[in-house]
Amino acid sequence: MQFEYSKEIGLDSEITKKRFESEVAIVCGGGSGIGRATVERFINDGASVAIFDINPNFLPFDEKYAKKIKFYLTDCSKKQNCVDNVTNVLDEFGKINHLVYSVAYFGSETFNASEDDWSKSLMINVAGAGYMIGAVAPLMKENNRKTICLMTSISQVSAQPNRWTYGASKGALWTLVRHSALELAKEHGCRINSVSPSWIWTPEVAKADYASKEELQDSVGKHYHMLGRVGETNEIAAAITFLASRDASFIHGHDLHGESS
Ligand SMILES: NC(=O)c1ccc[n+]([C@@H]2O[C@H](COP(=O)([O-])OP(=O)(O)OC[C@H]3O[C@@H](n4cnc5c(N)ncnc54)[C@H](O)[C@@H]3O)[C@@H](O)[C@H]2O)c1
Repeated sequence: MQFEYSKEIGLDSEITKKRFESEVAIVCGGGSGIGRATVERFINDGASVAIFDINPNFLPFDEKYAKKIKFYLTDCSKKQNCVDNVTNVLDEFGKINHLVYSVAYFGSETFNASEDDWSKSLMINVAGAGYMIGAVAPLMKENNRKTICLMTSISQVSAQPNRWTYGASKGALWTLVRHSALELAKEHGCRINSVSPSWIWTPEVAKADYASKEELQDSVGKHYHMLGRVGETNEIAAAITFLASRDASFIHGHDLHGESS
């Protein structure tokens, strides 16, 4: 069954159509879920987008987005693959203004976690973000708009069952935001922040945790989210693109943390 993304729910996307005009964003993990909604919001707001994703078989984008997207088959856990494709983006688009890292390995083991589980969690979720920051930051130097946003999770601090490997990787990702914020500001004039959602209805959640949005809503949304519902991908995309916008010009090294009770 094809995953159904939510329709717009009262966001400001009609009045932000020019805020990223002629800018270029790289969205890692942009083929699906939160990354995909972020691609659409960047384009709605005037940017062109390079999608870095390991899966080339994503749902086609609506024509109004497709013409401003270029796809780069990338395994973000491989440093050279990141470096090569960042160079390709610079050659083809002429500049890079924004980076969003919305990739994740969702395996979450506990006592029996294997070397492979730990390695994937740390290489895909953490090192990949580090590789991308390292590849992109020096090339952003010449632009006046430079931002980075990493997708962490409430799992970085909330104790949740069966979340050792995933949770630890998200905690490390937040630590990476704090430490890299120093050098990024000083050496590259680039802001970095993260967004840590609680439960958002995405294809991964539908595949791994809950069969339907109603089930997720009944078991999680009503009980753990103070707003009484689960979040939508375009609401998280709105937060990510806010952090990339001029309105967030003094927000740096910060985590926009998801709500849960
Ligand atoms: N969905 C939620 O409830 C939720 C909650 C908190 C945090 N997050 C975080 O938000 C981000 C996006 O989650 P989502 O639910 O939209 O996931 P998703 O599975 O829908 O999208 C993730 C994308 O990353 C790509 N990807 C995976 N491994 C890759 C690799 N090695 N290289 C390049 N691309 C790779 C996948 O192909 C996919 O397109 C993740 O970092 C996740 O941890 C999600």
